[in-house]
Amino acid sequence: MLRRALLAAAASEQIRGLVTALPATRAVVGRYVAGESIGDAVRVARSLREAGLLVTLDYLGEDTTDSLRASAVATQYVQLLGKLAAEGLTEAGAVEVSVKPTAVGLLLGSAEAAGEGGPGRVSALGERVAAEHIERIAVAARDAGTTVTLDAEDHRTTDAGLRIAAALRPRFPSLGSVVQAALRRTETDVRALAAPGVRVRLCKGAYAEPVAEAFTTRHDVDKSYARCLRLLLAGAGYPMVATHDPRLVAIARSLARDRAPDSFEHQMLYGVRPDEQRRLAAAGARVRVYVPYGGDWYGYLVRRLAERPANLTFFLRSLWSSS
Ligand code: FDA
Repeated sequence: MLRRALLAAAASEQIRGLVTALPATRAVVGRYVAGESIGDAVRVARSLREAGLLVTLDYLGEDTTDSLRASAVATQYVQLLGKLAAEGLTEAGAVEVSVKPTAVGLLLGSAEAAGEGGPGRVSALGERVAAEHIERIAVAARDAGTTVTLDAEDHRTTDAGLRIAAALRPRFPSLGSVVQAALRRTETDVRALAAPGVRVRLCKGAYAEPVAEAFTTRHDVDKSYARCLRLLLAGAGYPMVATHDPRLVAIARSLARDRAPDSFEHQMLYGVRPDEQRRLAAAGARVRVYVPYGGDWYGYLVRRLAERPANLTFFLRSLWSSS
């Protein structure tokens, strides 16, 4: 309930204006976001690499409805990848990038696409523009010696995101897809994706979804996660186990005990359970930290606050102590 209310409130422009203007918000943002510039992203990536962790960098922003903005986001990624390569951070994919398809134009023309299945549906234009920008980023990543993972967003974008990845994968075999255990369709998607060499990140899913599309209780989402995990870890792909949930991390470690340690990885968010990230890496696991950077951090922050009452309490306490 609280999670749904928070995610719904996140859509209000008034609340966005209020929250982003509060000085105390900045302190909380600093816990989850590397900073605003490419320099900040590179600095944090370097320090995580020095701690033995792998990194994926996300340039914050989503739901772009302006084609110039979509193009600017792609350019930002190309510049970031150039900088990371120059700093020697991309070797063997040690630092890669995560891209949200809607940040590079997937929802362009979606209002006009109402006839194609309702408002917010992906239009042919949006899919083509996003695919072109993602290809540009994938070329830059390959030139830099690393790769790209396409983040998963709300269920209306799932088919298009998976289609774009499938179309690019013959030329960019290491391009990764993300699937969300919360969606009812995901087990079927995972069966199709558990193919040799395919990189698949499994997460719980951070969006408020309709009941027809998604499991609604935490218990059902966790059970779905465990089923998908089992399929991925029994398959020939490269599973990326994205969760902070101690039970699911333990299940993953147990299911993967016969796999080579470099044939899968754990992934966690920057600022969430950093001690556990280091503990797993020290035990010989590959651990990648998802590090967002950029000025457009509002949607990301709200999803983190909605996930965990303790995060929300921390946020409210910071507001209180600064007032
Ligand atoms: P959940 O939030 O249910 O927490 C389970 C347990 O983990 C808690 O009970 C607690 O024990 C522990 N825990 C969680 N947070 C903690 C904290 N701050 N401190 C201490 N313990 C904590 N989503 C999406 O829709 N699309 C995407 O592309 C991605 N990408 C992505 C990449 C990576 C690397 C990660 C880790 C996550 C994503 N997500 C995502 C977000 C994901 O869907 C999900 O919303 C969050 O990871 C939270 O879910 P958890 O699996 O961590 O469990």
